[in-house]
Amino acid sequence: MARTETAAESAIDRKLINKLTEEQMARFREHTPTSAEYFDRARKVMPGGVPSSFQLNDPWPVYIDRGKGALVWDVDGSEYVDFHNGFGVMCVGHANPVIGEAVKARHDEGTHFAAPTNGSIVSAQNLVERFGLPQWRFSNSGTESTLSAIHLARGATERDLVIKIEGSYDGHHDAVMVSCYPELDELGPRESPNPIPFGHGYPQTVVELTVPVPFNDAEILEATLKRHEGKVAGLIMEPAMMNINIIPPKDGYLERVRELCTEHEVMLIFDEVKTGATISYGGATQRFGVQPDMICLAKAICGGYPGGAIGMTAELGEVVASDKVHQIGTFNGNPLVMAAAEATLTRVLTPEAYEKIEAANDALLARCQEVIDRYGLPAYTQGLGAKGCVIFAPEPIYEYRDYLTKVDGDLSTLAWLYHMNHGIFMTPGVEEEWTLSIAHEQEHIARYVAAFEAFASDLSGS
Ligand SMILES: Cc1ncc(COP(=O)(O)O)c(C=O)c1O
Repeated sequence: MARTETAAESAIDRKLINKLTEEQMARFREHTPTSAEYFDRARKVMPGGVPSSFQLNDPWPVYIDRGKGALVWDVDGSEYVDFHNGFGVMCVGHANPVIGEAVKARHDEGTHFAAPTNGSIVSAQNLVERFGLPQWRFSNSGTESTLSAIHLARGATERDLVIKIEGSYDGHHDAVMVSCYPELDELGPRESPNPIPFGHGYPQTVVELTVPVPFNDAEILEATLKRHEGKVAGLIMEPAMMNINIIPPKDGYLERVRELCTEHEVMLIFDEVKTGATISYGGATQRFGVQPDMICLAKAICGGYPGGAIGMTAELGEVVASDKVHQIGTFNGNPLVMAAAEATLTRVLTPEAYEKIEAANDALLARCQEVIDRYGLPAYTQGLGAKGCVIFAPEPIYEYRDYLTKVDGDLSTLAWLYHMNHGIFMTPGVEEEWTLSIAHEQEHIARYVAAFEAFASDLSGS
């Protein structure tokens, strides 16, 4: 599912884009016949034939059979180099033996007690070291992490409003399913955007408790905080936006956000579900050097197992410890997940691993940029740590409204088809990015660049 349609068209001839898209779509259908069969079976028992709507894509999802290292194989037996990496979860590489051994050992000792085990202590200790916040709790997903953080912000401040960034996705609970991917004609004024529910099922009174602001604009944030003085519990934000391609913070922006939150006694929550274990050892918090009051983690921290974590200050830890705010869940700190987290955090994703991943990413970004320059594509590259993307906009984007009005969605879709047809497994849709793992070597990077070059070359008619 493309979460949003962008409203921009680059100077590239639409007829050519449409012709190439039709050709590549036909090729995609031809080499995924077993996925088509799976899709028919799956649709009978799962809405849309998928377990989560973010796995939908046209004409059907590619059903995966197995993965090893940097590679995955689909149910037709086709091999791909995996740059999707499970929406940025698999930085450890598929079927990582260190994680496998830890999980198997834990399995043989029992997998669930709903009582704390040593794995949760060691994992929490590692998160303290990485991110600098002193207290941690566990959850089962990114959604649960951001949900717990918002409960805690509201409970600790006794205030109701939450500020979030327009065009960001922070999980699928009511407080943040607002202004995720609003359409152009819904946006309202930039200095006070309309809160737009992402889909149906959210009471309007709840939607209105969430106040969107544009990314990278501390002045509008300041005015918003003044307008709602004494009513805002927390600001939840990705320190670098990662769900509309990648948008890094402008110099000084996060520092100013921190000052403003402190001044207005608003809890600053970094949603590091994507950035956390991928863009450096200590995530965006370490990379950008700004300390929030809470950090939400999930995805890559558990090496392919479903877990999340919430980091907090000592004061907020007290609010949780005293049970004023209930942070709870049967599977929180599940021993199997904690075994995976401990192995991931302490043995696989070491500081050296991040160096290796970032070097591979720098090479990939540079080589894609070289192709862009050589073929004169209306695009540029952006990357951080394990994450990168080609953004199909003629100039840099700084916030959602830029994304909507400058990114050529048809070109992004066409690039995705070229990748999928040239043995590169990539996230569907316009808004995502690639994620590298420790298993990605130069040969894998070269395969990505070759697929991208095939796209660029056909597009330029050479
Ligand atoms: C920034 C961000 N926050 C929260 C979430 C929600 O995480 P989950 O899908 O594990 O619930 C996501 C998922 O993509 C995300 O990208």
